[in-house]
Amino acid sequence: MNIYKIIFSPTGGTDKVANQFAQAFDQEVKTIDLTDSATDFHQISIAEDDICIVAVPSFGGRVPTIAAEHLEKITGNGAKAILIAVFGNRAYDDTLLELKTILTNGGFRCAAAVAAVAEHSIMHQFAQARPDKKDLEELSRFAKQIRQRIEENRIPEELILPGNHPYREYNGVPIKPVAKKNCTKCGLCAKKCPVQAIPLNNPSETDYKKCISCMRCVSICPTHSRKVNKILTTIAAYKMKKSCSERKANELFIGV
Ligand SMILES: Cc1cc2nc3c(=O)[nH]c(=O)nc-3n(C[C@H](O)[C@H](O)[C@H](O)COP(=O)(O)O)c2cc1C
Ligand code: SF4
Ligand code: SF4
Repeated sequence: MNIYKIIFSPTGGTDKVANQFAQAFDQEVKTIDLTDSATDFHQISIAEDDICIVAVPSFGGRVPTIAAEHLEKITGNGAKAILIAVFGNRAYDDTLLELKTILTNGGFRCAAAVAAVAEHSIMHQFAQARPDKKDLEELSRFAKQIRQRIEENRIPEELILPGNHPYREYNGVPIKPVAKKNCTKCGLCAKKCPVQAIPLNNPSETDYKKCISCMRCVSICPTHSRKVNKILTTIAAYKMKKSCSERKANELFIGV
């Protein structure tokens, strides 16, 4: 039996949460990186007795489109999936429901799901430094409960999750990073952008139409050259203050 971590984590918050679940299985975990567009996801076929920890961030209350497109290509063959939606203290809305639909259609059996809070990757003042110690302890407890259920083969016929269909409409956010003067043209951001929105031959530019505002380029640039417009993010944070300020809980969905 293999354990897979199938993740889309542009800035690492989702990965932090997924690792807490991976650790609960005490064995080597293979990673499938949904931000890596060079992978031929059609070639990935999981075996029935494998377990997949599938973790995505919530973007606008949805599964990020590119993550959904890559996931849809993977064949589940009845493997068990643990669904994780990571959100920045506003809400995850339809993310888990959408993830369940994608995985079920791909032949996975959805064993359990978790919604977990991590620092907001655009407005860092929301859920700052989460998952914190308390979160990580709680996520470990969730992971142990899920592992026990799977070992006892108690997989729900249908995992009931919150969310609505049609899903919440999401058309992206107008916050797109660009490189400032101290860019050394090292090309790292262009290589790591999940949607190839940064031209390799001119990495100080950004294709606004392709960019999904995932903030990976901002978080990995070694010279801190890529920045978002401060005024736009301040306005966005002001608008979202009410819905994002109160500490939100992590949630476990495990069926009956
Ligand atoms: C484009 C974008 C949209 C987001 N939309 C939401 C949202 O609707 N609700 C929320 O609570 N957090 C939202 N967030 C915050 C992320 O879900 C959160 O910071 C997550 O940890 C990012 O994952 P990562 O660190 O793996 O990149 C959004 C972040 C980005 C970049
Ligand atoms: S990672 Fe930073 S320094 Fe390197 S090309 Fe991109 S913006 Fe320039
Ligand atoms: S250019 Fe846009 S999509 Fe690409 S890494 Fe940067 S924020 Fe993400």
